[in-house]
Amino acid sequence: MRSLHTRRTLLGAGLAAAGGGLLAGCSGGSAPDHGQHGGSGGTRPAPAGYVSPDGPEVRAAEEARRARGRVRAVRVTATAATLDLGAGRSVRTWAYGDRLPGQEVRVTAGDTLALTLANHLPEATSLHWHGLALRNDMDGVPGLTQKAVRPGGAHTYRFAVPHPGTYWFHPHSGVQLDRGLYAPLIVEDPREPLAYDQEWVVVLDDWVDGVDGSTPDAVLAELSKGMAGGGHAGHGAGGTGGTAGSPPPGAGPSRIMTGARSDVLGADAGDVAYPHYLVNGRTPEDPAVFTARPGDRIRIRIVNAGGDTAFRVALGGHEMTVTHTDGFPVVHTRARSLLLGMGERYDVLVTAQDGVFPLTALAEGKDRTALAVLRTGGGAAPAAGVRPAELTGRPLTADRLRAAPSVALPARTPDRTVKIRLTGGMEKYDWAFDGAPYTADRLHPVKAGERVRLVFANSTSMWHPLHLHGHTFALANVPGGVRKDTAVVLPNGTLTVDFDADNPGLWMIHCHNVYHAEAGMMTVLGYRRK
Ligand code: C2O
Ligand code: CU
Repeated sequence: MRSLHTRRTLLGAGLAAAGGGLLAGCSGGSAPDHGQHGGSGGTRPAPAGYVSPDGPEVRAAEEARRARGRVRAVRVTATAATLDLGAGRSVRTWAYGDRLPGQEVRVTAGDTLALTLANHLPEATSLHWHGLALRNDMDGVPGLTQKAVRPGGAHTYRFAVPHPGTYWFHPHSGVQLDRGLYAPLIVEDPREPLAYDQEWVVVLDDWVDGVDGSTPDAVLAELSKGMAGGGHAGHGAGGTGGTAGSPPPGAGPSRIMTGARSDVLGADAGDVAYPHYLVNGRTPEDPAVFTARPGDRIRIRIVNAGGDTAFRVALGGHEMTVTHTDGFPVVHTRARSLLLGMGERYDVLVTAQDGVFPLTALAEGKDRTALAVLRTGGGAAPAAGVRPAELTGRPLTADRLRAAPSVALPARTPDRTVKIRLTGGMEKYDWAFDGAPYTADRLHPVKAGERVRLVFANSTSMWHPLHLHGHTFALANVPGGVRKDTAVVLPNGTLTVDFDADNPGLWMIHCHNVYHAEAGMMTVLGYRRK
């Protein structure tokens, strides 16, 4: 049986071997946390032959970004907090400040963000800027690009913000992301081409932390025992308890889910039966309400911050026009509903009708919903469990979209193809790439200037949202495929993406199911030194 903390211990060990002990301040993995202790800041030396996260190549790439905008100083505190999820439900959890999601950070492309993270948590933490092509030493991956920020410590992330779009940030430490530690990062376009009257940021989440004693760590412990004994917790929130996996003593009811069926994602849409599904931190019984006037054009920026849930999203009484995914523009495409894997974002435009309308996020395959409300006129609030007709039929997915011509990746024969096989399953909960769990010293080499093709061959019976740090690839199954940083691979399917190696450093590739990632489904793309 695998210990919960093995991964991070391995990580530290790998680094010490590869990097000559920069993490000497590390606790050696005995502390009950998912990150290294020690001072904040600084990076380790890269493995021999590879670009170092704070090396000259990284500094040159940062200079080439020519950030000429303002310097935006922001302070964020990661802290234990009691949060109100609505309808009298409050949970003890970890959050950025005392709100869920954390306070949005809004900058303009070309600005420099100088964000100081103060860690008031009992564990080491980190901050990752999901989707940003930023300088590598600010990417926020403990053990790879920085030392974790120890409890009581602080760390300033300072970097040029390259591209406009809808992004978000979260820790890259253990399963902390499945607590309340997430917030939107909106990068405005100094030459915004879209015209709209209002903007609505919609953050989706699946919630377990602090409910009846559950924590994401306890969920991971339960999942890690595997389903090999045949215990199935059943379908629905809470489950009925399995024989194989059970949560650690005092850690609440079983949260394992099996048989989550989705006609889009396949037979196993998720591993975790969450007690709550949230939009902007609220349960459907007491939803967030967005007010506008009839006829307003509203830009809705949708972020899936969930740990283990894909959401199918529709706005009752409205058709949506999809304008962006993962920050990058697409050829405008109409949709009744959208499917978002964990980490994915979509921007849509709607023209508000007159009345009260549910924005429903169906937890795909899990038969539960989250809700927010658009109000432009009189009328009763929608029922908590309302499922607008727009949810039926096939939701729009990224493979059906095309990149806007302005951001289409020019056709080019790949200089290098990196093949990664997805392996593992629920039985042993041994999710991995190429059959071996993550260590920071196994790198997939690329060289600056190359056109790189990544081929993800999924030999598992589950879908996975795959994420590459520091780059925005193009879906390569069709010409003109959309630019994204997170894309879904279906069970037994293959995902092919292309990108230009133009941002030197050491970059994570991983499944954005936080439990899969923590079980081992992560690896590193490393730029070779010239
Ligand atoms: Cu949002 Cu490494 O991920
Ligand atoms: Cu996965």
